[in-house]
Order: sequence, then structure tokens, then C-alpha cells
Amino acid sequence: MNLVVVSNRISRGKANEPMTGGLAAALLPVVEKAGAIWVGSSGRVRDGSQKEPMVEIEALGRGALAMLDLPAAHYGGYYEGFANSALWPALHSRSDLIRVSHGDYLSYREVNAFMARALLKFRNPDTMFWVQDYHFLALGAELRELGVGEPLGFFLHTPWPARGIILGVPHHRELIEAMLAYDLIGFQTDEDCTNFRDYVSGELGLLVRDGTVVSRHGRTRLAVFPIGIDAEKFAASAARAVTHPEVSRLRRSLHGEKLAIGVDRLDYSKGLINRINAFDRMWTLEPALLRTVSLLQIATPSRGAIEAYGQLQSEVARLVSDVNGRHGEVDWTPIRYLNKGYGQAVLAGLYRTAQVGVVTPLHDGMNLVAKEYVAAQNPADPGVLVLSKFAGAANELDTALLVNPHDIDGMARSIATAFAMPLPERRLRYEAMMDKLRAGSIQQWFADFIAALQDGHKASRQPPLLARPAAWPLRSAGSSARIH
Ligand code: F6P
Repeated sequence: MNLVVVSNRISRGKANEPMTGGLAAALLPVVEKAGAIWVGSSGRVRDGSQKEPMVEIEALGRGALAMLDLPAAHYGGYYEGFANSALWPALHSRSDLIRVSHGDYLSYREVNAFMARALLKFRNPDTMFWVQDYHFLALGAELRELGVGEPLGFFLHTPWPARGIILGVPHHRELIEAMLAYDLIGFQTDEDCTNFRDYVSGELGLLVRDGTVVSRHGRTRLAVFPIGIDAEKFAASAARAVTHPEVSRLRRSLHGEKLAIGVDRLDYSKGLINRINAFDRMWTLEPALLRTVSLLQIATPSRGAIEAYGQLQSEVARLVSDVNGRHGEVDWTPIRYLNKGYGQAVLAGLYRTAQVGVVTPLHDGMNLVAKEYVAAQNPADPGVLVLSKFAGAANELDTALLVNPHDIDGMARSIATAFAMPLPERRLRYEAMMDKLRAGSIQQWFADFIAALQDGHKASRQPPLLARPAAWPLRSAGSSARIH
């Protein structure tokens, strides 16, 4: 089997390089171990004068990365425009933040079509294509247009919201019809899958039976595959990381004080404002916690060219400075607020140092940070996870302290409870969560999806196969090559 994985962002997997978002962290081991080719954006754009996609190829474990320069004329409309100012807000139930033009939609479709053309170069008779996330909803349909009959799978890392919210996305009908060109569409939770099914039957009037939709493209299976992590590997890396200089410096700076940690992309879906308000409330309601517990909030800047993100960055910075100004002392800072990314190895050590992990999104597909925080704990003295009910991870990690991120007082009380929780209760909760993490590993997620895609692929969709392309060369990092 020749597996081609596609996503917008890819990761080179250097342990010390910051990794933005859960998708990159999750796919890395899949590519390294299963020998897949992972195709995505190089992070560079190129003007449209060249006819063929430019790709740089780099070996990664048993697999390879193929990094494409995306078309300059369409990149902004695709990434900042339709993907992140129409789809992202809608998928996170924030249709009030949709700001998009028809040109953005056209650019989104152009980039999907461009990616489809580029993927032909990686096609063999036994290729399976596995497309990731909302950047490429229409990629499957573009591949079918080009005569690709091989298995096409799609996995959505974000939530899929209620039908009424999707109606706010311009061109929703065309896009969702195009999604049905995939053989298999995977979701993080039952709720996401049910919402999608409601749209397809209610809005498109299509028959959905036994989890399969029948459309003009053929049959598409809808199923749930909650994404996981390699908990044992993460635990080992956390245990090693306690000696990392950055982690040691953090520990030394605490002088016995307890610490809560939050690690997020700076995104309105993550509930940062509510979280900081909850800490503010906690210190106001329980002054005994002043100087004894503090928060380390890492908020990695993201999508800064989009107005909503710029505003959020200023709002969070203002709020942190206000809280620190009111509760701080000459020798004590309540919230350490960092606007930068860290590599997985350091993060693992930081998670293990914190007695409380706060993962309180307003809405999130899975939130792998929640799983990583648990896996990083010392089994003999584990910390407590405070987790939003609206993170996909709450379905599995139900022995975390589950909170409603809109209820600031409730969150303040839960955070205080987490700091005070006795060891036997912490261990019971931690062990129950670790059992879930081991059962739902990233390896299992990968194997389940691939097996379902193989099963679900319909022979009826197979057009004549194209000639096998010449083997693609492996190039060293830094060089780029035409893929024709
Ligand atoms: O699931 C959403 C996702 O694709 C994750 O990989 C990550 O959280 C985020 O979006 C990445 O966003 P960006 O690539 O725009 O920084």
C-alpha cells in the first residue's frame, strides 16, 4: 500500500522545533513509522508564471515529506480568507466572525485544484489518499475530476457544528456536495458526525443509511475516529525532560509554589479570556491562593494577519496585565504569559512540572494538549486536568475535572479544587485517563481509519489507472525540484 497523507501544515519533526497545532504532532509518527508520503504547504508561495507545482522532498523516518509552494495569487484568499475567516469560525460555532469574499472562495477552490494536480505525481496503482482537515474539503472532488479512482479518505480535526451554523458559510452546499467525493469522512466525536449527517439529509435531501450517504459521487461512509497520542512515548519524554535547562529553570523559579499550565494557539476557540477571568476570580474569592498558586500561559501566535486574531492578542495581553497589576506583588507574578512556541520535548517537561493543566476551549475538535498533559504526569504524584466539556477530549477523559468555560465562577472553584485535590483521588483519576489514552492511541487511530478506508472503497468508482509515474527522487532539505 502506498499512502499519501495531505494537510496544509506539515512538520519536520525536530524535537526542539515549535509545533503549531495538534494535527502536525499527530501525523508525524504516522509518517515516520508507516512510511507514508506527507504532502503539504512549504510555507512559501510562488507566482503563477510556472505551470507545474514546485516541490521539495525530504526523507522522514520510513516516509517522506513533500513540501509544495502554493500559488501566490490565491494563498491569502485560501488560507487567511476562506479557510480561516469562513470555515474555521463556522466550524467552531462563531459565524459572527465570518468575513469572506467571493474571491476568497474562488482562491480556496483554486488551491484545492492545484493540490489535486500536484498529488497526481505521487499516484501509483495502489495509492490511497488521506486528506486532513478543513483546508481541503473539495480536494477529493478535484481528484475525482482528474480521474482518480483510488481510495480517498478525509479526516476533520475540528468540530462539525449544528446544521444552522453551516448555513452561514457561503457556498456551503457546493462544498459539502464536493466532500461526498471522499469514500470515507472521519470525525472526532459522535456529535460532529451526527451534525454532518443532519446537514446531508436535511439540507441536501440525501439518503443516509447505516452511516453511509449515497450521492451522485457514489457511497460515502461517515464514521468517528477520536484521535489519540502515543501516551507511553510522551510519558517517557516527559520523564526525561525534567532535566532540560528550560524546565529546570521553571522549577527553580517556583520556590515551592504550585503551578497551573495552559498551552494553546492564540485562537478565539481556546477560551483564553474566560480562563484568565476564572483565575482572577479564584484569587479574589480565595486570597489564600495568592502567592501559593500561579499560572503559566503559553499562547503561540497564530494567523496574525486576520483581524479577529490581532484583536484577541491585544485583548489577552491587556487582561493579563490587568490581572497581574491587581494581584501581583514586587516579588510575585500571578500569570506568566508567553507568546512563543516550544518543542514537544520541552512542553512535556513543563506539563510534568505543573500540578494543574487547564484546557478550557469554548469548542475544540479534540485538543491533544489535554491528552499530552495527562500522559506527561508522574504516576506517583500526578497533576489534575481541568478540562472543558466542549473539547472533544472530554468524551474520553471523563475523570478530568470537567468545566463549563462560560461559567467563570464554576471554573474558578474547579481550579481551586484541582490544586487542593488529595493524592489518592489524583491517582485514581489519572490512572483511569491513562487507560483510555492507551486504548485510543495514535497508532490505533491510524490503523482504524486506514482499515475503514480500505473496506469502504468502492470498486465502482475506479476509472482507468494512469501510467505509473517515474519514482520521485529524494532531495536534501533546502533544495527544491520540479516534480515533472
Ligand atoms: O485542527 C485544527 C488544525 O488544523 C490543527 O492542526 C491546529 O490546531 C490548527 O488547525 C493549525 O492551524 P494553523 O496551521 O493555521 O496554524
